[in-house]
Amino acid sequence: HRERIQAVLEASPLVPVISIEDPDQAVPLCRSLVDGGIRVLEITLRTPFGLKAIEEVRAALPDAWVGAGTVTSVAQYREAENAGAQFVITPGVTEAILEFGVTSQAPLLPGVATVSELMMGYVLGYRQFKFFPAEVAGGVSALKAFRGPFPDVTFCPTGGIRRETAGHYLELSNVRSVGGSWLTPRDVVAAGDWARIREIAEGSLSDLG
Ligand code: 3PG
Repeated sequence: HRERIQAVLEASPLVPVISIEDPDQAVPLCRSLVDGGIRVLEITLRTPFGLKAIEEVRAALPDAWVGAGTVTSVAQYREAENAGAQFVITPGVTEAILEFGVTSQAPLLPGVATVSELMMGYVLGYRQFKFFPAEVAGGVSALKAFRGPFPDVTFCPTGGIRRETAGHYLELSNVRSVGGSWLTPRDVVAAGDWARIREIAEGSLSDLG
């Protein structure tokens, strides 16, 4: 489980948090991100189209890692697995989700905002977490502080991160990737401007140097 989720974190420094409002847009949107250099896609279950989108994008883009985001129950976790999600991201933790994730086909990146939540996962063997909501939960300083007691834990911070601030997180030794919705601005997606989506992906990656 740990190795598999680590592979996801290593595959792309930027993880777009994608919400599908129009089911026909899932594949072209994700293709434009992949064309722009993004290798990991988090498709949220925030809209009714998330599960179908995961299925379609997996079939259409076999070179990308396609996972489910905003999973908040074991029932949703199962649905995401069945849709072919290659990983699952949750905004927070429950014991049931953490236990389910240990043996699931789709490895779990559990969301935590505090050390106590982290420790709930740590005792079950988790060593990688989403840090959410990153900016309001302490940002870069919090992640530096977590390094002291948990030097073997790595994070994917998400929540309030922008193109201009992503690099500050990626400089930390306990961060491999950062996530956010800035890669898929609502108005650009609504307009179906895939060339612009690709540009934002390329530009965000090249800003990292
Ligand atoms: C998430 O679920 O990870 C966040 O909604 C993404 O945060 P952002 O929209 O602030 O980038």
